[in-house]
Amino acid sequence: MIGLKRLDNLQDCVTSVLRDEIPGDIAETGVWRGGASIFMRAILLAYGDVTRTVWVADSFEGLPKPNPDRYPADRGDRLWTKTALVVSLEEVKANFARYGLLDDQVRFIRGWFSDTLPKAPIEQLAVLRLDGDMYESTKVALDSLYPKLSPGGYVIIDDYGAIPACRRAVSDFRLENGVEEEIHEIDWTGVYWRRQA
Ligand SMILES: C[S@@+](CC[C@H](N)C(=O)[O-])C[C@H]1O[C@@H](n2cnc3c(N)ncnc32)[C@H](O)[C@@H]1O
Repeated sequence: MIGLKRLDNLQDCVTSVLRDEIPGDIAETGVWRGGASIFMRAILLAYGDVTRTVWVADSFEGLPKPNPDRYPADRGDRLWTKTALVVSLEEVKANFARYGLLDDQVRFIRGWFSDTLPKAPIEQLAVLRLDGDMYESTKVALDSLYPKLSPGGYVIIDDYGAIPACRRAVSDFRLENGVEEEIHEIDWTGVYWRRQA
């Protein structure tokens, strides 16, 4: 789904943290069929990394219904009705297996982000890739996981350009937490920044 420029960015971010020895695992929140997460696991294999886990977080049943009382920016969002975005855990596992990449270095976090991410057993991250489309999905992922991102690590936001509610969640998070690192454009929608000390 994400196109060549965002795949290249992913490769740049993962190889950069390996080269610079930035500690931590790799996570994607919102994986659909698993493409970007499978690619990240493949990069670890290509570079012989046997220490880092790829965390694969999704409901595996599509997007949640909006909760406009808590997250007004999601009011009217209809992505939860898109059956094309429903991919089961079994199917994603099978996609990893097709490439010989389903192993102990891949861990799945199944459920709604608001239930799973605040208590996810992730200790430290070097790359955090967000692709949950909605305000809630983006904000909950940032609130829960950004504090675990190492200095020198990368956060990538897939839907920043495409979905105003996602962009709003990023701005709110950055304002609330005094995050001032420069946001870099990848393509028409994807952005990233590198966390400073
Ligand atoms: C656009 S797709 C992800 C595309 C994927 N990263 C790729 O590389 O092809 C969005 C995914 O986010 C998941 N998702 C969005 N919001 C979620 C939430 N709040 N909790 C759990 N899963 C969510 C959906 O189930 C869907 O699989």
